[in-house]
Formats: sequence, structure tokens, C-alpha cells
Amino acid sequence: MNIDSLGSPSYQNDDSFDELFSPRIRKLSKVHWTPLSVVKRAASFLAPNPGCKVIDIGSGVGKFCLVAAYYYPHSEFHGIEQRMSLHTAAEYSKEVSGLNNVHFMYGDFTELNLDGYTGIYFYNSFAENLYTFGRIDNTIQHSPSLYNYYANYLYKILEEKPVGTRLTTYHVSENEIPICYNLVETDFDQHLKMWIKR
Ligand SMILES: C[S@@+](CC[C@H](N)C(=O)[O-])C[C@H]1O[C@@H](n2cnc3c(N)ncnc32)[C@H](O)[C@@H]1O
Repeated sequence: MNIDSLGSPSYQNDDSFDELFSPRIRKLSKVHWTPLSVVKRAASFLAPNPGCKVIDIGSGVGKFCLVAAYYYPHSEFHGIEQRMSLHTAAEYSKEVSGLNNVHFMYGDFTELNLDGYTGIYFYNSFAENLYTFGRIDNTIQHSPSLYNYYANYLYKILEEKPVGTRLTTYHVSENEIPICYNLVETDFDQHLKMWIKR
């Protein structure tokens, strides 16, 4: 545990932040959770002014939301995660962080009403349906048809969002994003892409 006297996690670097989590979850970090530097850049785009409401689709242990909420206290960061064990870890981290602008939900994102979110963060969450290696665990179903179902569902949601909606994708191909989104900035060797709906 790396909890200081105020009960907060350390936001200094990835290794110290990840000490919040169990060894199993720490081991997954490099591949599956967004690095701190990327979170900061993504959040600066998704919360350009106070009062923004951002959703992380597939929030894992909550790293994106927690770090973003810490640096942008006047916006809200919400996460939805389909694995109960990861959701539980996220709730625990929220508690020790003391942040009140972060919220986690358990479930499949297709069951969530995505109206009202001004920004969306998406770290290629469905990709594990396409590969048999490097999965987080095997507690859920995986299949290429599930990938298509989720990707098509998200595509339609993105098409229906209001003009001005901000989207940040990490390790996602441009083909997955509707043509009505302008790619306005990239960073981290173009792995991080920042879009605005027109
Ligand atoms: C690559 S991890 C990213 C975690 C987090 N966004 C971050 O950047 O630290 C993707 C997460 O999406 C979750 N996920 C995949 N499909 C999902 C779905 N249909 N609904 C909710 N969560 C999903 C996975 O369980 C996994 O925890």
C-alpha cells in the first residue's frame, strides 16, 4: 500500500500509483491500464473547462478516472466495467483516494444510457475478444462476434452524440470512429487520438 497521511494514493508515477492495487492487478498494468502521462493528456482534452462529465468505457480498476479526477477536480469522471473483481478494486481505490468527482458502475456498457456525457474515453476495450493471449482473465465470454457487436454498438452511440462531444481513443484504429468526428490532435506516437464531433 502506498497511502500517505491524507489517505491518498501517490500520483507521482505509474509504479507508485499502482501500489494501490494487488500484485495480480499491478502485473496487468503495463498492458491494460492507461499510463499516468497519457491520462493527464487525455483528461486535459476531455475536460477543457469546469463542469465536464466524462465516461470511461471499460474502466478496469479505475486508473484513468482516478487520475483524471485528481487533476481535474471541477469535472466528473465516470467508469463502467464488466468485471466485478476490477470494479471492486476501483471502488476501493476511490474510497482511499478521497475523491468525490469519480464514480464507478458495474456492468456492460451497452446497458448504460450514454446521454449527458460531454466526453468519452476509450482504450480499445473490446480487443481482448480478438486475441487469445494477454487477456485480463477468462471470467467472461470472448469471441470475434462479441467484438463486432460491441464495436458496432459504440459506433452508433458515437454517431448519435451531440455536436461538440469530445472523444479520446488510445490504441484504436481510425476506422473504428465515425466520419462525423474530426481528428483534432494526436500524441504518444499517434496512439492517443483526440476527436470532436461535428
Ligand atoms: C484496456 S482495459 C482499460 C481500462 C481503463 N480504461 C484504463 O485505461 O485504465 C479495458 C477494460 O474494458 C473492460 N470491458 C471490455 N468490454 C466491456 C464491456 N462491454 N462493458 C464494460 N466493460 C468492458 C474490460 O474488462 C477491461 O477492464
